[in-house]
Amino acid sequence: MKVLMINGSPDGKGCIHTALTLAAEVLNKEGIETEEIHVGNKDIRGCIACRRCHEIGKCVFNDLVNETAPKLAEANGIIIGSPVYYSMPNGTVLSFMQRLFFSCGCDLHMKVGASVVSCRRGGNSATFEIMNQFFGINGMPTVPSTYWNDVHGYKGEDVLEDLEGCETIRNMAANMAFLIKSIRAGKEQFGKPDVKHTQFFNFIR
Ligand SMILES: Cc1cc2nc3c(=O)[nH]c(=O)nc-3n(C[C@H](O)[C@H](O)[C@H](O)COP(=O)(O)O)c2cc1C
Repeated sequence: MKVLMINGSPDGKGCIHTALTLAAEVLNKEGIETEEIHVGNKDIRGCIACRRCHEIGKCVFNDLVNETAPKLAEANGIIIGSPVYYSMPNGTVLSFMQRLFFSCGCDLHMKVGASVVSCRRGGNSATFEIMNQFFGINGMPTVPSTYWNDVHGYKGEDVLEDLEGCETIRNMAANMAFLIKSIRAGKEQFGKPDVKHTQFFNFIR
């Protein structure tokens, strides 16, 4: 069992890294492997909608997105972490996630997803909502917690003073471990739900 953790912050040791580390500690104790992928300091361009990925099975821009896609195919879950920039996710993490999910071609159904956001002061809920949009459209249960998954800080170590934020992240990770194990057991007992994706209606006629 494995969870990929996307660190969208430019600072590899910043607030998002602290929050992801708290989640990793809980997941590892539950026997779930974690890998943090540092995205926020990379030169990741946005999707150009060429749709070549649907023919060649990977993105035409051969960068960290294509390195991550096989790891996502193997993983049971993903945590997307982003600092709040102007009340939204930062540009790099959005470019990365949009290209990764559009091009990966893997079956995301019943992998679990969670978002983690960090802000100094405000804009966390709007950021959280945007990042969670990746999950519903892909049949991925979104992991709940005891609050929305946000921590507060300016530097990485500040997060540890946000006791409720830390508890929220740890609770999310505990729920994520439970869901991953439950889904694995459920697949064995009941099989995966039979969902169809045959319709494509674009309102232009
Ligand atoms: C370009 C930019 C925009 C930011 N916008 C916000 C904001 O809208 N609200 C906020 O509370 N903090 C804002 N911040 C601060 C960061 O969100 C905050 O310090 C965050 O915890 C940093 O996480 P990190 O250490 O993982 O990068 C902004 C920082 C930058 C560099």
